[in-house]
Amino acid sequence: MLGKKVEESLNEQMNRELYSAYLYMSMSSYCTSKGLKGFANWFMVQYHEEMFHAMKFYEYINLQGGRALLKAISQPPSAFESPLDMFGKTLEHEQYITKSINELMELAIAGKDHATQIFLQWYVTEQVEEESNDNEIIAQLKIINDDPQGIMLLDRELAGRITTVPTEFSKGVQAAAKGQGA
Ligand code: FEO
Repeated sequence: MLGKKVEESLNEQMNRELYSAYLYMSMSSYCTSKGLKGFANWFMVQYHEEMFHAMKFYEYINLQGGRALLKAISQPPSAFESPLDMFGKTLEHEQYITKSINELMELAIAGKDHATQIFLQWYVTEQVEEESNDNEIIAQLKIINDDPQGIMLLDRELAGRITTVPTEFSKGVQAAAKGQGA
C-alpha cells in the first residue's frame, strides 16, 4: 500500500518520464530533418527507454493499490543549435531526473516504505548509466568540434544503437520485461 504523498510523487515522476520520452522523440525528429539518421536512431532508442521507465511507474502504482493518473505532458523544445547543444540539454535533463529520483527515494525512506525504496533502486542505478552515456558522447562531440567529417563518423556509430527494453506492454511491464530479459 502506498501513502498519499508517495503515490502523488510517483505519479509526478511517471509524468517526468513521459516528458523525457517526448523530449527525445522531438530531438529524434530534429535529427531526421538535418539528415543525421544515426543521431535520430539514438534518440528514438532513448524514447523507448523512457517509455519503459514510465510504464514501470504506471504498473508499480497500480500494483500497490494506487492509481496511475495521466496528466498533461509539457511541450518539448523543437529547435536545437547543434548535436553538442542537444546532448548538453540531454545531460541537463537527466541530472534533473536523477535529482527527482533521489527526492522520491528520500520520501520513501522517511515514510519507511521499503517496497518503494527497492522499486526506486533500479532507477538510481539506471540514472548513473544514463548520465555516463551522455557524458561519453559529449566528450566525443567536443573533440569533433563541429567538424562535418567527425559528425558523420559519430552518426554512423550512433546508428548501431539498438532498443534493449520491452516495447510491448499489453500484458504488463513485468511480463514484457521477462520476455525480453530486461
Ligand atoms: Fe528515465 Fe532518462 O530517465
